[in-house]
Amino acid sequence: MRDVRDRPIGVFDSGLGGLTVVRELVSALPHESILYLGDTARCPYGPREPEEVRRFVLQIGTWLSSHGIKLVVIACNTATASGLALAQRVFDVPVIGVVEPGARAAVQATRNRRVGVIGTVGTIRSGAYSQAVRALDAGVTVFSAPAPKFVDIVEAGLRMDDSALESLMSQTSEVFVRPSFYELARDYLDPLKRAGIDVLVLGCTHFPLLSAAIQQVVGPNVRLISSAAETAREVRETLEARGHAAPESARPRHRFVTTGDPGEFERLGSRILGWPTGPVEAVGVEELERLITPELAALASTRSEGP
Ligand code: DGL
Repeated sequence: MRDVRDRPIGVFDSGLGGLTVVRELVSALPHESILYLGDTARCPYGPREPEEVRRFVLQIGTWLSSHGIKLVVIACNTATASGLALAQRVFDVPVIGVVEPGARAAVQATRNRRVGVIGTVGTIRSGAYSQAVRALDAGVTVFSAPAPKFVDIVEAGLRMDDSALESLMSQTSEVFVRPSFYELARDYLDPLKRAGIDVLVLGCTHFPLLSAAIQQVVGPNVRLISSAAETAREVRETLEARGHAAPESARPRHRFVTTGDPGEFERLGSRILGWPTGPVEAVGVEELERLITPELAALASTRSEGP
């Protein structure tokens, strides 16, 4: 049987946003192989009911497990908020989400113990960040706001411009989104600023791609927190504690699969990562749907997350 240390880490998101987590994973764990599934055909997850998102989590977790992964990273806040606890119960490998690492980084960074969080409607409505922050430090107050249109802006901005990502993002703020981006961002962020936050959690894996523009709106005194680096640290510690980390002699392979258009995923994904994804493979939504047993579907519909 294949040595568990040689197995890939499974990572998934509703689409491209989770690649911001892959970037950190590769930099923190350069010897690890990664199998990434971007569920682009069903993106966005943010407006969907938790039960539906939980079904997606179980389908994709089952697909990844059938490909011999040694650990799963749910690189999507919405899917973490709805489905992390259930996935941890169902799968026999460790499952790590992005909410708790983001909350931990925020609690460590805040000085005035007033923390802002922006995310999708699903993430904010779940209260997952407030719960995670409270579990770490009950004296911290969380001010949260949904910012669903930021997901569309990232997706549209990526598709509109062929220049390098950094210039795309500055160009996005100057040309494509202005003035509407700033109006929208102020609508989302001004109440948090007025609440006196000193850190703002980017509680959606798409949002780090807008961080320059978001920083301009919140101003230099608010520190932006993305959970990617903290998540990568947790993955490393988990693998090391279990003796499952890849050896330095390993030859890592990064494999990308999408339910959407593989050519587009390759083009946009390579720009987010800053290196070529290589050929992207396709998996059909129907194939994922077939994987879920009636027992799992029942669990997805009855199980609610939370304390
Ligand atoms: N990347 C997802 C997250 O972190 C959001 C995108 C979506 O709505 O699907 O929540």
